[in-house]
Amino acid sequence: MPLSWEAQMVAYKARVEVALDQWLPSATTRPTRLHEAMRYSLEAGGKRIRPVLVLAAADLFPQQADPLPAAVAVECLHTYTLIHDDLPCMDDSAMRRGRPTCHKQYDEVTAVLAGDALLTHAFLVIARGYINTPAIATALTTTLASASGSEHLIGGQLEDTLGEGMTLSADAVEFIHLNKTAALIAASITMGLSCTTATPEQVGIGHKIGMNLGLAFQVVDDILDVTSTTETLGKTVGNDAELKKNTYVSLHGLEASRAIAARLTTETLLLCEQLSPNAAFLSELVRYLQHRVT
Ligand code: IPE
Ligand code: IPE
Ligand code: MG
Ligand code: MG
Ligand code: MG
Repeated sequence: MPLSWEAQMVAYKARVEVALDQWLPSATTRPTRLHEAMRYSLEAGGKRIRPVLVLAAADLFPQQADPLPAAVAVECLHTYTLIHDDLPCMDDSAMRRGRPTCHKQYDEVTAVLAGDALLTHAFLVIARGYINTPAIATALTTTLASASGSEHLIGGQLEDTLGEGMTLSADAVEFIHLNKTAALIAASITMGLSCTTATPEQVGIGHKIGMNLGLAFQVVDDILDVTSTTETLGKTVGNDAELKKNTYVSLHGLEASRAIAARLTTETLLLCEQLSPNAAFLSELVRYLQHRVT
């Protein structure tokens, strides 16, 4: 690893943030309210885990295309899911990324449309970014559309919402978490690998890494909703209990949830070793996410 883990993380995030700024319509583009709202939610920061996973995965093998447009697309799409997740008809959250949520700062119509626009923009960034490598463009589009579509992210979000107030089985909650969260995290890794010479078998291992890591990530998110504060997390806490959501904590309790996150992390680390001998950064990121406080 030429850079320390922290320095590499800062470098990846900086690349993503510069490109996000460059490739998004400026805030002075008409309708300015819409473009301001898109930038408001994107520029609030966030951990940028998904685009960093795209770039880190793409650094494991020789590259055939620049992974940066794929990374930017994933972050645009992720930010749309957050804006919509916070709406009154969904989780009704007031704070996100250390700021009032998009619909609080603007209004519901602007927030719905800013989310729609970020989702659409994700695919525009891919179409423009891979115009000279159409096979890679197709692979990236298929992976991102599938992971974020009705059978995965959106399906998970609907089951999450419909399950409020009910007692779901462990399998049903695992299904929700794998789809609302893990699918896009897995897509981030496989999209990064799609920009490289990685074989289909290696892409398959990348997918497994992402599904395990993504499930651990959502379990930790459930834990933080109970144990952290809005100030530390930058987003409204206590939402899950208030809405009677089915979470790993509501189902298994805090201690068992921590043990599940630890087991999933161990499994993910083994898969990282299997994927590449150069996965030191990725493995550190996996460990960091288990113990993250934001
Ligand atoms: C929040 O994702 C939504 C979940 C899937 C838990 P992140 O925790 O990655 O949010 P940001 O991007 O850092 O704000
Ligand atoms: C959100 O899950 C998953 C998506 C946005 C797709 P949560 O509702 O738990 O995320 P937070 O806790 O609001 O970030
Ligand atoms: Mg939600
Ligand atoms: Mg939420
Ligand atoms: Mg949550």
